[in-house]
Amino acid sequence: MRFPAEPFRIKVVEPLRRVSLEERARLIREAGLNIFAVPADSIYVDLLTDSGTSAMSDRQWAGLMVGDESYAGSRNFFHFEKTVREIFGYRHIIPTHQGRVAENLLFSTVLKPGDIVPNNIHFDTTRANVEHQGAEAVDLVIDEGLDPGIQHPFKGNLDPAKLDRVIHERGREHVPLVMITVTNNSGGGQPVSLANVRRVREVCERHRVPLFFDACRFAENSWFVQQREAGQQNKSVAEIAREMFAHGDGCTMSAKKDGLVNIGGFVALNNPDWADRITNLLILVEGFPTYGGLAGRDLEAMSIGLREVLDEDYLAFRIGQVAELGGLLDKAGVPIVKPVGGHAVYLDAPAAIRVSRAVARRLALPRLRDPRGRGRESHVRAQGPGERRDEVPEARAGAARDPAPRVHHASHPLRRRGRDRAVQEAREPEGAPHRVRSAGAAALHRAPRGTERRGRARDARNTGPALTPNRPLRPAGSCRRNACPR
Ligand SMILES: Cc1ncc(COP(=O)(O)O)c(C=O)c1O
Repeated sequence: MRFPAEPFRIKVVEPLRRVSLEERARLIREAGLNIFAVPADSIYVDLLTDSGTSAMSDRQWAGLMVGDESYAGSRNFFHFEKTVREIFGYRHIIPTHQGRVAENLLFSTVLKPGDIVPNNIHFDTTRANVEHQGAEAVDLVIDEGLDPGIQHPFKGNLDPAKLDRVIHERGREHVPLVMITVTNNSGGGQPVSLANVRRVREVCERHRVPLFFDACRFAENSWFVQQREAGQQNKSVAEIAREMFAHGDGCTMSAKKDGLVNIGGFVALNNPDWADRITNLLILVEGFPTYGGLAGRDLEAMSIGLREVLDEDYLAFRIGQVAELGGLLDKAGVPIVKPVGGHAVYLDAPAAIRVSRAVARRLALPRLRDPRGRGRESHVRAQGPGERRDEVPEARAGAARDPAPRVHHASHPLRRRGRDRAVQEAREPEGAPHRVRSAGAAALHRAPRGTERRGRARDARNTGPALTPNRPLRPAGSCRRNACPR
């Protein structure tokens, strides 16, 4: 093991049940090859997301017991407010029950139709909330951030020259704010450097546009800065976070990631007028400003989690574990986005499709005399045991290519590229359906620990659904307290 051992002891366990190959095949078929529709109870190793899946610490659980559920003025809110102010440095702290609500409240308040929001790459809920206001979400990540194979320490950086140009072209009056997502989830969990934040800030100041962060994985980003950015090694992760946020005017946060809780989020900002308007909307859609859609106990767990996530031993373990998984996949020839992201390993889907297609061809060679032909061979492999090709409706084939249709993900730049390439490949005469060619990769996502090896391989060929391009792979049983990343 090349990453540090867990800096925690596990004292609660949740029993899991083994699911037979036949049952898994049936469940996947019943779910129409959509992994989001498979009941979680029947998944032995669930690598879907880190979002809200953290196991809470003993102190967080103890925090639940001191929850003050008063309608107004709960002591947990004041604790939460103090914590967020200390870490993020912003004046007005508005709790919400998820990150997307924080986005919705902010954008409903500050955007109007025709506006644009520049970002390195918008996460899909962020993009959807921008577009819901009739505004345009513009992705301005550096060029390296769009190439899965290029090694770069800060592939999440926003290109300041592109930003400057876009603000000039569209007019400052149509840019109510600029955002930076740390780490850049939709670009492969890639970090943003402090130097880049400074340069973006300069551009924003020149045009008098506020800068906000999508802060979901702020601790992870700060850890990368400490590890990779010249001159930052002697600062603590907390100091780096504080410095980064000091260049901004506010942030939205899903605490289901680096807040280490199962539910929670917030908007934090300095502008008192925006804060008033957001708070009024909060009362309308979430709740009173001292609980914002959460219970007092949730606020307490969030305050504790936000401090605990800054533990550098924990971050070294969590990020190291992801790097280890990425290294193993890379060694095994699975095409991944490089460098390995902070919270997940991302498949380079178009390349994975090419690799699995080559493997499929080789597997098909001995069957060339089979009148069903090569393409047919692939179709057979796409099916569950005992299922005939003509039993798989075309609608399901679509679901297999895109097992988890999510808001606007088609317009995601990396995904768009992947899709263009995939479409091109699909036009080639001998092309097998995507679900077949990415089945091997899907198996990595789904293979249950303890399953007999051959069964696992067979399962992979026969029943594994294709991954959505860039769907992250997470290490099994992962992260602190099992959390694994989205
Ligand atoms: C970068 C980023 N922003 C925003 C969100 C939305 O947060 P939530 O799921 O709490 O609404 C997510 C969730 O995965 C995310 O990764």
